[in-house]
Amino acid sequence: MTATELVIALTKGRILRETLPLFESAGIRPLEDIEKSRKLLFDTNVDGVKLLLMRGSDVPTYVRFGSADIGVAGKDLILENGSDGFYEPLDLKIATCKMMTAEPVDAPVAVDRLRVATKFTNIAKRFYAERGQQIELIKLNGALELAPSLGLADAIVDIVDTGKTLKANGLVAKDTIADISSRVIVNKASMKIKNAMILDVLAKLRDAVTSVEA
Ligand code: PRP
Repeated sequence: MTATELVIALTKGRILRETLPLFESAGIRPLEDIEKSRKLLFDTNVDGVKLLLMRGSDVPTYVRFGSADIGVAGKDLILENGSDGFYEPLDLKIATCKMMTAEPVDAPVAVDRLRVATKFTNIAKRFYAERGQQIELIKLNGALELAPSLGLADAIVDIVDTGKTLKANGLVAKDTIADISSRVIVNKASMKIKNAMILDVLAKLRDAVTSVEA
């Protein structure tokens, strides 16, 4: 990246559909149909501003190392992977959901050492440690809701949006660990070197978020 170029890393998929209108309101739009193309790097209508498309879990990595100046990343991934190397100046208030614990509807009141299945192992570890509860962590990469009914775990820590997935698998939500939404993150060095350019984008995005809320 050069001092006159601004590289923005966006999360592919569902979140992108909510992200692009906010960037459009902020005056930044890709020069081609980003959702139809197989490309991963897009020029925009603003000279020097480029958009990168990637998995959400990779956005913090690109921003941390400065390969992207700005990123849009889920708070779940920021909490799980830490925020070394970047600031988190803006909540876009999109892709909102909750990080929760959940248990089978008929779970026993207490077990000695709770077995918790999750892909968010750091979040789960911190949550139960703060409550002084001993757990055994079982790392899974998806379909967490299966784990309790197959006897693999007593509880799960996962993202809950509508609650339909929990319900369909005989689980109930218990504790809310964190409110999740997409956040704008900014590489710390970029914030110094490209300060005016980045503050301008942040101010416009903030206005876009406010006008959606109004
Ligand atoms: C998330 C999460 C749950 C589901 C919750 O999965 O892991 O499975 O959404 O949504 P609900 O409360 O509206 O039912 P997602 O579809 O994002 O896919 P993932 O398994 O790849 O995380």
